[in-house]
Amino acid sequence: MIHIAPSLLSADFLKLGDEIKSVKESGADWLHLDIMDGHFVPNITYGPFIAEFCRKASDLTIDVHLMIENPEKYIEDFAKAGAHMISIHVETCPHLHRQLQFIRSFGVKSAVAINPATEIDFLDYVIDDLDMVLFMSVNPGFSGQKFIPSILKKIDLFNKKYGSGLKKDFIIQVDGGVNDQTCKLLTDRGVNCLVSGNYFFKHPDRAKAVKILRGQI
Ligand code: DX5
Ligand code: ZN
Repeated sequence: MIHIAPSLLSADFLKLGDEIKSVKESGADWLHLDIMDGHFVPNITYGPFIAEFCRKASDLTIDVHLMIENPEKYIEDFAKAGAHMISIHVETCPHLHRQLQFIRSFGVKSAVAINPATEIDFLDYVIDDLDMVLFMSVNPGFSGQKFIPSILKKIDLFNKKYGSGLKKDFIIQVDGGVNDQTCKLLTDRGVNCLVSGNYFFKHPDRAKAVKILRGQI
């Protein structure tokens, strides 16, 4: 099963409730929330109240991607708002192991996000504390950017190093520039969760977009 996680950042906020409904109706099963602080990334988005609203408005898996400095300050708020998954960026986290335990202490799945130019060797020491790895395939901050192909090398390396030891339900997520041209390069490499902002929300037939991303048509 390939999870599809539309990124709410590309939705029409004038009709947010309808947009969330449309994500569900399209057959996508996750909802990806990009939380930006204007420090770690140049953009600012929204806080825990949006996660709470999304959780109430649907039964989608609420996937919170924290692109913020000092993520430890907000993990509890997002957990209490109803997040099912929380990703923190390794680049923001000197105490990564502690924060992953903290996420799990709320019964929330723990994930680490990795920028395009960040090495993955640190995973040696935390792979058992993770439910998901999020590979950024754009520099975080904005939707609608172009896919960075060197990410494919990184996923190959990840598979080589960790592939055989991963638990069965481990999630490998890719975020940024995912569309009909790039999805197969990822799913062929074992990526089982695709985040999609622009491609999904701008597609005239969102159910079709989901099927294309999953490789079903
Ligand atoms: C970028 C965000 C992404 C982004 C994806 O910082 O983390 O989730 O919204 O948007 P697209 O699919 O348009 O690249
Ligand atoms: Zn994201």
